[in-house]
Order: sequence, then C-alpha cells, then structure tokens
Amino acid sequence: MRALCWTSGGELAVRQVPDPELRNEHDVIVQVRRSATCGADLPLLAGRVTGLAADDVLGHEFVGDVVEVGPAVRRHRVGDRVVVCASVACGGCWYCRQGLPSCCDNGSTEPAEAEAEWGHPVAGGFGQPRAAGGFAGSHAEYVRVPYADFGAFTVPEAVGDDRALFASDAAPAGWMGAEGGEVRPGDVVAVWGAGAVGQLAARSAWLLGADRVVVVDRHPARLLMARQHSGAETIDLRHTDVAAELRELSGGRGPDVCVEAVGGLAAEHRSLADRFTGRTRMPEAIREAVYACRKGGNVFVLNSGARFVDAFPTGAAVHKGLTVRGARQHGQRYIPMLLDRMARGELRTEHLATHHFPLERAVEGYALFRDRPEECLRAVFTPQEPHSPPGDTAVRVA
Ligand SMILES: NC(=O)c1ccc[n+]([C@@H]2O[C@H](COP(=O)([O-])OP(=O)(O)OC[C@H]3O[C@@H](n4cnc5c(N)ncnc54)[C@H](O)[C@@H]3O)[C@@H](O)[C@H]2O)c1
Ligand SMILES: [Zn+2]
Ligand SMILES: [Zn+2]
Repeated sequence: MRALCWTSGGELAVRQVPDPELRNEHDVIVQVRRSATCGADLPLLAGRVTGLAADDVLGHEFVGDVVEVGPAVRRHRVGDRVVVCASVACGGCWYCRQGLPSCCDNGSTEPAEAEAEWGHPVAGGFGQPRAAGGFAGSHAEYVRVPYADFGAFTVPEAVGDDRALFASDAAPAGWMGAEGGEVRPGDVVAVWGAGAVGQLAARSAWLLGADRVVVVDRHPARLLMARQHSGAETIDLRHTDVAAELRELSGGRGPDVCVEAVGGLAAEHRSLADRFTGRTRMPEAIREAVYACRKGGNVFVLNSGARFVDAFPTGAAVHKGLTVRGARQHGQRYIPMLLDRMARGELRTEHLATHHFPLERAVEGYALFRDRPEECLRAVFTPQEPHSPPGDTAVRVA
C-alpha cells in the first residue's frame, strides 16, 4: 500500500510499504477515508523528537471503513465506518478501568522506553515516536487498529467524515482541556492557541456552561474562525497585553480556567546541549497562563511535546494556589459523547478541515500546514480518492 513515511530528520516521502495484517485477535484493519495533520506532528517534522525510525508511517487522526476483523472483536463488522482514538489502550488494565485510558499499562509497544522517559509506561499511539506510540500511523491506505472494541467507534450516519475525523484527537483533547480544567457554569475561560485543538477547547468550554470564553493567538484568520465558529472573544497577542486584557474581561480577577493548546513549534530546543538533554524552552503560553489565571484557578496543559522545560513559575503557581494539570486525551472515555454531540449539531468541525489532498500529495499538505498555519488549520488526506501514478519522491520539509 501507499503511505506517508518519515525517512530521516526532517524528510517525508510517500512510499510503498507492506499492507498491515491482523496480528492479534482483537485487531481490525481499517481502510482510511480521511487522515489529518496535527500540531503534535510539527516537532517531529523539525527533527526535534527522536524515536521515529525510517519508513515509520505518520498520522494519528483518522476515520475509515473496517475491512478485516479479528476473531475476538465483538463490536465491529466489515463495512462499519469508524473513527479511531489517536491513542492505543487495552480497556482492561487498572488505568483503563479508572477512565484514564491514555495512562494505559498495556498500550505501548515500547514500555521500557516510555518508562525511561516518564517513569511509567503510558498508552500507545499511531504515528508517534516509540515512547508515546509505536503503531504504524494513518496517513496510509490501511491501518491496523489494536484493541478495536475499546478504541474504534462506529460513526452515526448523521456525522460526515470531516466531522467524525476530529473525534479521533482534536475534539477529545479540547474537551479534556475544558473538563479537566473543571469549567463550571458561569466561569471565564481563556484558551491559548486557535488551532483545531484550541477552538474545540473553546467550544467545549461553552458546552460545559462557561459564561465567557476568550481565545488567544497571533493569527487573525484563526482568531476570526474562533469568533465565528466557537462564539469566543479573541485576543491578538501581537497587539495586546494578554494578562491585562484577561483581567479586564474577568472582573479584575483573571480567568477561572486557563487551557494551553499551543505546543508544537513553540517548544523549541534552545541549543545543541539542550538537544542532548531534551530540555526545551518554557513555552511562553504556559507561563502566561499561570500568571494570568485567577488565584485558586485551574490551568490545563495540553502540550505533550515538551520533555523538560525550565523557568516554570513555581512560585506563582504555589502562592496563587493554582491547580496545574495536563494529560494526553482520554478519547476512549469521551468519543461516544462527542459523536452524539456531533450528530446533534452541537459540535461542528468541518470548517477546521481547511485543505484536502490525495495521499500522494501528503508531503505538500504537511509543508502547507507547517508554513502557513494561519490558513491551513488541518491538511486532510484522502487515500481513497484517485491520484496520479505513484512516484517515490522525497521532499525536504524541515
Ligand atoms: N494532550 C493531548 O492529548 C493532545 C492531543 C492533540 C493535540 N495536542 C496538543 O495541542 C496543541 C495544539 O494542537 P493543534 O493541532 O491545534 O496545533 P496548531 O499548531 O494547529 O495550533 C497551535 C496554535 O497556537 C498558536 N500559538 C503559538 N504560540 C502562541 C502563544 N504564545 N500564545 C497563544 N497562541 C500561540 C499558533 O499560532 C497556532 O495557531 C499541540 O501542542 C498539540 O501537541 C495535545
Ligand atoms: Zn493530533
Ligand atoms: Zn489499559
């Protein structure tokens, strides 16, 4: 089959790779209809994250059709249209049973690497570096989906592909930012980042009853989209003192809940030494959120790309009595609820699928997503669309 592969630091190419096969009785094989880029891929493209090997297939947000079913799978049949959670979890371990599937003990293909990185093994994932993933990604014609009864969800007929696609990762991540930040009716909520994740965090905050939602970014087109589709107020950080403006909008106190949905390229390595230690510059949005948040408020960090950061404002967090949390999204917990909301029209995402490309042009799609993030919220690949004859060309994107 054809797939978008990582070839070495900063190089991507659409290549011929072996078709996936059922390896476990709980697997299904999905033929991909839509597979999207994500801000979490940007550090991988810049060669800032290790743990990918040549010919690893990228992509973790996808919707498709079940074409093969393992003998122990109960909830899916050939022909089902499914959306698959971006992270891979078993459904049976202590963490999965607590509703914390991204902390799964059994999802990772490389538990020792995850343990060395974070102290514990965590869930696996599609198209991610070994410690956080290990499974071939979705920018491909077919994907093997492990633990399919737990991680794949049949899409209601009323939900189109460009809506269901976002239930894989961006919508559960955004929902978790708002829910994990404990948004309550009447709250003022600030979200840093007007990418797909930030906009869906803003929409989720509304759905959880927030009184006022404010999205911060530097791209006018993205901020306009957040106003039009999430009903949020916006702050252009290039022209505004963000903390002062947020105080103004929240009765002088600061937002009750602050959600960071930036990450990506903001988490840059500072020097060669930092490359070796894996230390990254403190993403300014996290620091800003800690300073802006009202005393006793909640900060939820979605950026999963940073390894070590310095200059974290520990004093501000302690003296203001903040709760600072973070997580990889627990999609298996949220996706059925999100699909219901999508079917009812409460959660719409088509506007976020700004650019569609046949799989053969996936390299171009990534370059556009990386270089013009203002207009390109998500590049969406459509492997089932007809395409020009395959060529094994590599294009440098870093
Ligand atoms: N925790 C999870 O499970 C999970 C899942 C998906 C994505 N993510 C993370 O969510 C983040 C956002 O993903 P995305 O796909 O929307 O990314 P994206 O790159 O499309 O959007 C990020 C946005 O942040 C803006 N930004 C940059 N610096 C900023 C700053 N200082 N203040 C405010 N905004 C700033 C950018 O202009 C951009 O619009 C990424 O870090 C990604 O890794 C986490
Ligand atoms: Zn993603
Ligand atoms: Zn588990």
